[in-house]
Amino acid sequence: MVFSRLILLNTPHYNQLTQLVELDRACLGGLWRKKGYQRELDNPDSSLLVLSLESNSIIGCGCFWAILEEAHIVLLMIHPNYQGQGLGQLLLYSLLKKAVNCNLERATLEVQVSNQSAIAVYQKIGFQLAGRRKGYYQKTGKDALILWRGHLNHPRFREDLSHWWSHISDRLSQSSWQLSLEGGDDDISGKNK
Ligand SMILES: CC(C)(COP(=O)(O)OP(=O)(O)OC[C@H]1O[C@@H](n2cnc3c(N)ncnc32)[C@H](O)[C@@H]1OP(=O)(O)O)[C@@H](O)C(=O)NCCC(=O)NCCS
Repeated sequence: MVFSRLILLNTPHYNQLTQLVELDRACLGGLWRKKGYQRELDNPDSSLLVLSLESNSIIGCGCFWAILEEAHIVLLMIHPNYQGQGLGQLLLYSLLKKAVNCNLERATLEVQVSNQSAIAVYQKIGFQLAGRRKGYYQKTGKDALILWRGHLNHPRFREDLSHWWSHISDRLSQSSWQLSLEGGDDDISGKNK
């Protein structure tokens, strides 16, 4: 018998700030501190989503800022022990679904030019290259690619979301994950309304 593992998708709470900082350290080497995450929770234009295990341990987090009609994705991270199992795609899909529900029209982000796994995730979900920022990352001096995904408010995008959802669900079941939305954000349901 194959046992599935529950994964929960939620918005984080103030009492999870320490966990978010620890996850950030493990995934990104310490991008934001506690104050940074607190600022995001306080900011009405910031949307944060977390993936947690049944034990309540947070293993993934994503965030976008709504700026005019654009979703600026500023964070996407999955704990190294859980990467390569479809969870990054689930998180990105969920952020985009939320952006659609907020009536945003376009999504954009910057990604380090050598970050192949992140670029693969963004491209799978339809992001396209729009430009390059030279020496964007202060620590490494590496360039950033600027990626965009337009037409979020177009009916075709809902079809694309539905298509991605079936790929992501298959990917999650291959890794024995079962998504639970209990007590979470109903808007993220795979059933596109
Ligand atoms: C980027 C990140 C969120 C991806 O999360 P993840 O859970 O590993 O992603 P998934 O398992 O959903 O998908 C990874 C996909 O990329 C593909 N991939 C992985 N490494 C790759 C590589 N070197 N080249 C091409 N494709 C690659 C995988 O095949 C997989 O696709 P598949 O499931 O269809 O086979 C995760 O690696 C992470 O947290 N990295 C550190 C933080 C970071 O760099 N964030 C991005 C900042 S812009």
